[in-house]
Amino acid sequence: MRFFLDTANLDELKTAASWGIVDGVTTNPSLIAKEGIPYADQLLRICDIIEGDISAEVVATETDGMLDQGRKFAKLHKNIVVKVPLTRDGIRACSIMSREGIRVNVTLCFSAGQAILAAKAGAYFISPFVGRVDDTGWNGMDVIRDIVQIYKNYAFATQVLAASLRHSVHVIESAKAGAQVGTMPFKVMDSLFNHPLTDKGIEQFLKDYNKAFQPAPAR
Ligand code: E4P
Repeated sequence: MRFFLDTANLDELKTAASWGIVDGVTTNPSLIAKEGIPYADQLLRICDIIEGDISAEVVATETDGMLDQGRKFAKLHKNIVVKVPLTRDGIRACSIMSREGIRVNVTLCFSAGQAILAAKAGAYFISPFVGRVDDTGWNGMDVIRDIVQIYKNYAFATQVLAASLRHSVHVIESAKAGAQVGTMPFKVMDSLFNHPLTDKGIEQFLKDYNKAFQPAPAR
């Protein structure tokens, strides 16, 4: 499973990059707005930190505007994947850009039916939002499982990028379902490290070692 960070914050990206486990980044207009830096400038900084797929989302709502923004994003850096929303205009833009060789991440997906549309339009990634489906009282992980199964049935090349992952169980369940990628906020990636038995084990190992090998105090 490839791990993407769902952030546009450079400090978070640098810290996680130092762990050597980040394969890419997803951004969206809300995440970019939080950083207060123009989209293109921030994307280039992100591309300098992380070597991997970097999703950049269009803010246009009609196909022509999406194509204009998407083509500009794609020219910025070889690793940029253009993100479009799962609307009629977005799917049309995805079909056109995919045929031009631009990699497209179709976002704001909440059902397996929508995911079929994205695959048929040649999407490189489909981003089903697990947490936001859960928020409505439905099971977001069922959507991931259905999409993985359907894509397998028809050998669609589109990769499932499990998004809106809110905690470590979402990451584990997405991996079990076979999602090729999981994108998560920094705090979720960081939480995957935590286990009380790891902390307890280190404490005990060091206690035993120091007891045996520490020099006896001088008399
Ligand atoms: C994915 O690309 C989105 O940016 C993201 O996962 C949305 O997550 P949220 O529902 O926690 O905002």
